[in-house]
Amino acid sequence: MLVSAKEMLTKAKAGKYAVGQFNINNLEWTKAILLTAEELKSPVILGVSEGAGKYMCGYTTVVGMVNGMIKELGITVPVALHLDHGSYEGAKKCIEAGFSSVMFDGSHYPIEENIEKTKELVGVCNELGLSLEAEVGAIGGEEDGVIGTGECADPKECKMIADLGVTMLAAGIGNIHGKYPENWAGLSFDTLDAIQQLTGDMPLVLHGGTGIPADMIKKAISLGVSKINVNTECQLAFAAATREYIEAGKDLQGKGFDPRKLLAPGFEAIKATVKEKMELFGSVGKA
Ligand code: 13P
Repeated sequence: MLVSAKEMLTKAKAGKYAVGQFNINNLEWTKAILLTAEELKSPVILGVSEGAGKYMCGYTTVVGMVNGMIKELGITVPVALHLDHGSYEGAKKCIEAGFSSVMFDGSHYPIEENIEKTKELVGVCNELGLSLEAEVGAIGGEEDGVIGTGECADPKECKMIADLGVTMLAAGIGNIHGKYPENWAGLSFDTLDAIQQLTGDMPLVLHGGTGIPADMIKKAISLGVSKINVNTECQLAFAAATREYIEAGKDLQGKGFDPRKLLAPGFEAIKATVKEKMELFGSVGKA
């Protein structure tokens, strides 16, 4: 059964570790992440962007697939199904479809409008027992056509949004989606520290988990980050393993063209990436 992300993140914040959000794109992705979480006894959050939701034939299909897998694979660890960077309308659709968690990303609105829309969704989510993530300060880079500049959030605005009663808060601290450029200045730990001083127990979310060096991840966790989003890294691992299989001509040997064989190396690569992240984030054995 899907659960809200509230309890797993409250525990993570108190225990000084982070739960990974791994974005899903299809059946192989979802199965790889769920099996790894179960093997490592780690709580997990499956992230679905609006674009990936559309690709997978809509939110109802996603809910059906994930619930089916939890049952058929005998998954016992806590799993939250979460809309990533949702619009206001997208959040409402996911809530209707049976997601257990949503993100409303109002970071591109003026703060008053972000507050207004977030507040309304807090009411809806509270009533249904769902977790809600809000965002202040756009995350840099491009994700599903949404381009952000990687700004640092204003800690006072973070406090205003946190006080609305959201479950977790994503704040821009110089992080960027996708690969980090050579000249990236790194995470702004001063900003993160100022935000955590003002928001207290609120679990903070670090987007753009791909390519952040391990020491920065650990420091971010020590300063209150309890959810870390990873997407591109699984895509890169999947693509590299698939490329290797095809370049070795394995799809041309015997029944190597069978999708169950062709996609197997990519599937294993996602599992290895998720395992590495769960170990780094400290969520192993915390289910
Ligand atoms: P990356 O693609 O950089 O790992 O970022 C993922 C993310 O933040 C999803 O919201």
